[in-house]
Amino acid sequence: MCGIVGYTGFQEAYSVVVNGLKRLEYRGYDSAGVVLEVPESGFYIAKTKGKVADLVSISQSFEGKARIGMGHTRWATHGVPSDKNAHPHLSNNGKISIVHNGIIENYDTIKKILTDKGYTFGSETDTEVLVNFIQYFMDTDPALDFSEAVRYALNEVYGAYAIAVMHRDFHGELVVARLGSPLAIGLGEKEYFIASDASPFVEFTKEAIYLEEGHMATISLDKGVDIRTIKGNERITPAIQELKLSLEEIEKGGYEHFMLKEIFEQPKSIHDTLRGRVLVDEGIIKMAGIWDHLERFSKADRIIIIACGTSWHAGLTGEYLIEEYARIPVEVEYASEFRYRNPIITERDVVIAISQSGETADTMAAIKLAKEKGAFIYGICNVVDSSIARISDAGSYTHAGPEIGVASTKAFTAQLTILSLIALKLGKHNGNLGNAEFMKLISELETLPKKIEEVLETTHGSIKEMSKNFLEVSNFLYLGRGYNFPTALEGALKLKEISYIHAEGYPAAEMKHGPIALIDENMPIVIIAPQKGHYDKIVSNVQEIKARKGKVISVVNYADSRVSKMSDYTIEIPDSSECFSPILASVPLQLMAYYIAVYRGANVDQPRNLAKSVTVE
Ligand code: G6P
Repeated sequence: MCGIVGYTGFQEAYSVVVNGLKRLEYRGYDSAGVVLEVPESGFYIAKTKGKVADLVSISQSFEGKARIGMGHTRWATHGVPSDKNAHPHLSNNGKISIVHNGIIENYDTIKKILTDKGYTFGSETDTEVLVNFIQYFMDTDPALDFSEAVRYALNEVYGAYAIAVMHRDFHGELVVARLGSPLAIGLGEKEYFIASDASPFVEFTKEAIYLEEGHMATISLDKGVDIRTIKGNERITPAIQELKLSLEEIEKGGYEHFMLKEIFEQPKSIHDTLRGRVLVDEGIIKMAGIWDHLERFSKADRIIIIACGTSWHAGLTGEYLIEEYARIPVEVEYASEFRYRNPIITERDVVIAISQSGETADTMAAIKLAKEKGAFIYGICNVVDSSIARISDAGSYTHAGPEIGVASTKAFTAQLTILSLIALKLGKHNGNLGNAEFMKLISELETLPKKIEEVLETTHGSIKEMSKNFLEVSNFLYLGRGYNFPTALEGALKLKEISYIHAEGYPAAEMKHGPIALIDENMPIVIIAPQKGHYDKIVSNVQEIKARKGKVISVVNYADSRVSKMSDYTIEIPDSSECFSPILASVPLQLMAYYIAVYRGANVDQPRNLAKSVTVE
């Protein structure tokens, strides 16, 4: 949610900043801006409503003269997307410039104090209040150091933020701070980078510092990186990390969109999720996070899964998996509801928090609440070292690699894979899953990458063709039962997120209690009907749909004979145990959503109003 980038060094700051913004655009893309310190003339600011490409068309680079600068790509919170609300923002005296990711919750109180003292505001943002608040401290005490003024101001605000600030009189200095939103500092040879994640600087350096919660840093070529705590001003020796990220991972690699690339990466991402964890020869699942805490899980009265969006859908499938194989009661909660409804949590609860980004504000807050009540927190994150990964007591990374398309695809199937591992491991440990069944299932897990490859090869062309038939449709229904009820929810979410067609997912049997009223010859209904599980029941549901002339698109196994006969379109996937069918069935649904959106002319990687990591509640 909003991307921040900054640079100080010997390169042309404009290019580094603008190219960095393009990589961070997944975080927000309703407006963009840049500030450069141009020798002898001060700050140059260009900002606009729209995308980074729009910024490029209205801005200039100063041909290498500017060596320090910052940029921002925005997902609006306070104030509509507009030129004036776009970042960077300037203080009233024109000397301080800021870019900000997050929300300053008490901005209206501060704004009132500042307004009474004569400060004026040209935007509706909380960010402009913060930059003037910093000026206020410097106006009050002209001897105050710039970074100290930033620290004073931050000590008075509540909310969540990552900020970067520059002052015209403190040449070559970038001041950054973080509380609740991520910020990485790239350490180059005679150059420094700052960014919301390491992608903007990965081609320039492999060394980075991830700023910790409640820390700030003053960065300059002369003094290096000076890290202190925001509260106590205590100096911190940072941990320098080696970046594992490669440029290849964050580029499109010949695909038209990141989303398509990420859909096609799934054989590899599932393989990477499983790597080193399933040891069929030894008959074990080896996952450090679970291994070390098996007793904690086994003694749990219940497991509560908390997540948002697609990760919540993975959590629902997790409920089916864990209850079936480990026989531990599971509750799945939207983090945003859980955190505010005074839930009953005890020390005997285990909370599994699922988050691709590891940053989602509601999930973070729900974890903090559960932690306070003594629950054990197990995090499932994709982004290594993310806030949720750090705050959890233990956990597993999904290792799906960077996911840049806003609609989650490979991270989702990786989450399902991790949840399968957890369920099978716990089931084996507590004796609910016999050895023969365990061995069969873990051997099958290893075949999933190959099966996904097969799904991609055999369905891609026909789904691309079939999708052309649904461009004018206004509503879709997705139905599934058992393990594939969450698959239906996720299929519907994918379609609505990127194509803007209204879509709903339902348990197939619930259709009769409402959605059936919508069915007519214009209504496409996606039925997820692998042969295991509740196949016969699904057959009856399809009959009910056909009796009302609905258009059926079914996802079935190769050997299917009944549902496919009644379907208008059939997508075939390989046979599998029921518990793994969501992983296989999700892939063609992702492809279908992708092609419908592409044919409708939508920007699939950056759907309107959405952002990849939601760091505000
Ligand atoms: C946003 C994204 C979704 C994602 C959700 C939860 O809404 O657009 O794709 O599922 O956040 O994100 P998380 O990073 O916690 O999985």
